[in-house]
Amino acid sequence: MGQIIISVRNLGKIFPSGQSSIVALEHVNLDVTKNEFVSIVGPSGCGKTTLIRLIGDLIKPSSGKILVNGKSPEKARKDRDFGYVFQDPVLFPWRTVSQNIQLPKEVFNQKEESNRIKELIKLVVLSGFENSLPRELSAGMKSKVAIARALSYQPSVLLMDEPFGNIDELTRENLNAELLKIWESTKRTIVFVTHSIPEAVFLSDRIFVMTSRPGRIKSDVQVELERPRTLEMRKSSKYAMLVEEIREFLRENQ
Ligand SMILES: Nc1ncnc2c1ncn2[C@@H]1O[C@H](COP(=O)(O)OP(=O)(O)O)[C@@H](O)[C@H]1O
Ligand SMILES: [Mg+2]
Repeated sequence: MGQIIISVRNLGKIFPSGQSSIVALEHVNLDVTKNEFVSIVGPSGCGKTTLIRLIGDLIKPSSGKILVNGKSPEKARKDRDFGYVFQDPVLFPWRTVSQNIQLPKEVFNQKEESNRIKELIKLVVLSGFENSLPRELSAGMKSKVAIARALSYQPSVLLMDEPFGNIDELTRENLNAELLKIWESTKRTIVFVTHSIPEAVFLSDRIFVMTSRPGRIKSDVQVELERPRTLEMRKSSKYAMLVEEIREFLRENQ
């Protein structure tokens, strides 16, 4: 087992809700090792977004402990250990692709390196679109801009919450393949939330299956498919069996 980058212990999150409260997560435990690609799957409302937001210090836990690179999530966020990619790419409409990607660097007051931006654009296969505006891009292209932007300050951990949730099936398959190429060439640790089991199996080294609310980690499935993954593999019986195995875990939830 490699070096542990993210460790979550006995994590709980309770949201106030009117007079009562909602227990979103309870006793969540998981470890993610360096350069691992893990996915979190589970029924809608089980707390996937809550979990990834807790790891990335966008909200605070009610109980339990998280360590990222041996630090608190708050320290890790301040050290720019996290890149965030959400379902909505949130691009500035008046900024070009390049300008959107370089935004975090401006915010952090770092010098603009145009070569680096060019490299990032090439990495996400958007060369030729440097000066395009978001409205000129397809949904898939917008999400690639969001990925390049998240990578611009070289975070060690990429947190992705259903980044391709609004994208049609075929485009999504291609984006999945491109994401793996990006991961293979940049070597980051990726935590990827999805409700698509086939997507999770295609991408991941390991899949955490959550129970319905209050969310807990029900199982931790190692994806024994060789790398690099290819779209062809999606037709194999091994792939189908893994998808079915995870579906079965989710069914037992009910
Ligand atoms: N800010 C919030 N205030 C109150 N309840 C919330 C808040 N965020 C999430 N919840 C509740 O916590 C549960 C888990 O939500 P979420 O993490 O978004 O689930 P998922 O991403 O798996 O669909 C849901 O019941 C949701 O309504
Ligand atoms: Mg969610």
